[in-house]
Amino acid sequence: MTALARNQWYIAAYGREVGRELLGRTVLGEPILLYRTEAGQPVALSERCVHRRFPLSQAPSRLDGDRVVCGYHGFAYGTDGGCLFVPGQQRIPRTARLKSYPVVEQDSFVWVWIGDGEPGAALPPRAPWMDSPGYTVVSGMEPIDGNYGLLVDNLMDLSHETYLHGGYIGTPEVAQTPIATEVDDNAGIVYVSRHMDDAQCPPFYAKSTGIKGRISRWQDIEYHAPCLYLLHSRIAPVDAPGPNPDGSDPHAFHVEVVYGITPATEKTTYDFWAVARDFALDDQNVTEFLRGNNHTVVMQDVVALNVLQTALDTEPAGYQELSINIDTGGLAARRTLARLAQQGATPQAQPAAR
Ligand code: FES
Ligand SMILES: [Fe+2]
Repeated sequence: MTALARNQWYIAAYGREVGRELLGRTVLGEPILLYRTEAGQPVALSERCVHRRFPLSQAPSRLDGDRVVCGYHGFAYGTDGGCLFVPGQQRIPRTARLKSYPVVEQDSFVWVWIGDGEPGAALPPRAPWMDSPGYTVVSGMEPIDGNYGLLVDNLMDLSHETYLHGGYIGTPEVAQTPIATEVDDNAGIVYVSRHMDDAQCPPFYAKSTGIKGRISRWQDIEYHAPCLYLLHSRIAPVDAPGPNPDGSDPHAFHVEVVYGITPATEKTTYDFWAVARDFALDDQNVTEFLRGNNHTVVMQDVVALNVLQTALDTEPAGYQELSINIDTGGLAARRTLARLAQQGATPQAQPAAR
C-alpha cells in the first residue's frame, strides 16, 4: 500500500462545494470542516468539537455569522478555531481550540495544507484551465474504496484505456505505442508521454470534436506528486500540421484532463475529475456528452479499483507483482511518493512507540 505523504497541499473540495452549509471531508485521516465566511473566504477547521468530539458538520451544528456552533452542547468557535463560547461558565479553557488548516482557493479547488506548521513558500500546483475563459469544463468527484496509490498507478498507465475503457477512450494504439518517462525529482513531477501519429479516433473524441477518420493523438502526462495529475491531450486529423514553434496549435483540439487525488484514509480516496476543452466552448450538447461519457469512464476505474483493493486485502503478506514496460511511469510515481512520505513523516505524524 502506498504510504501517505504529510506536509503537502491536498484538494479538499471544489470551491463550489464550500458555502454557507457546513461540509465535512476527511484528508489523510484528519476530519476537516469546510465553510465560507460571510465575506466569502473559505475556512478549514478540525471537524471534531473539543468537548465531546461531536462532528461539527453534522446537524444541528450550524453557522452563526462566521462562528461555528456545535450542535450538541453549544460550544462556539471563530474562524481561527479559537473557542468563543462555553455553556454554563465564563472561563474558556485554554485548550478549547480547533486545529485550523491553511487554505488556498485556486483554479476552482479549495486546497488544505496537511502537515506540521505552516506551508511557508510551498504553494499548490496549478491547473489553470479549470477556471480560464478559453476552456469549458465538466467536473465531479467520486469516492474510491481503495488506497490512493491504486488511482495513481491507474492514471500513469493509460494503456489500460484499450481494455478497461474500450468503446469510450481506448483504441488499440494506446496499448501498442511505447511511452517515454521523465522524472523531475526536485519538483516532484513525473512526466509520461505517448504520441500516436496515426490512431483510430475513439468515440469520446470523435463525437466531441466532429473529426471523421484517423487522428494524431498525443497524451502528455504531468503528475505533480502526490495530489495533482494533468493529462494534456492533443487530438488532430491525421494529416493536420503540428504545433507552431511558438507553441500555438490552431489545427488541433486540446483537452486538459485533471485529476485531484486526495487520500481520505489509507484505504479511501477522493477522485476529483475534470475535463477542460478548448473547442465547442458554448456547445451544450458537447458539454453534456463529455460529462456523461467521462463520468462513465471514471466509474469504470472506480469499480475496478474497488475490486482491486478488495483482492489485495486478501493477499498473503509479501505477494509479488509483475511490472512491465508500461509501468515505468507508475513505478517512478511510487518512488516519488515513497520519498515524499518519508520526508513528511515527522515525530508528530508518527508518534514513537511507547
Ligand atoms: S460535543 Fe460539542 S459542545 Fe459538547
Ligand atoms: Fe482509466
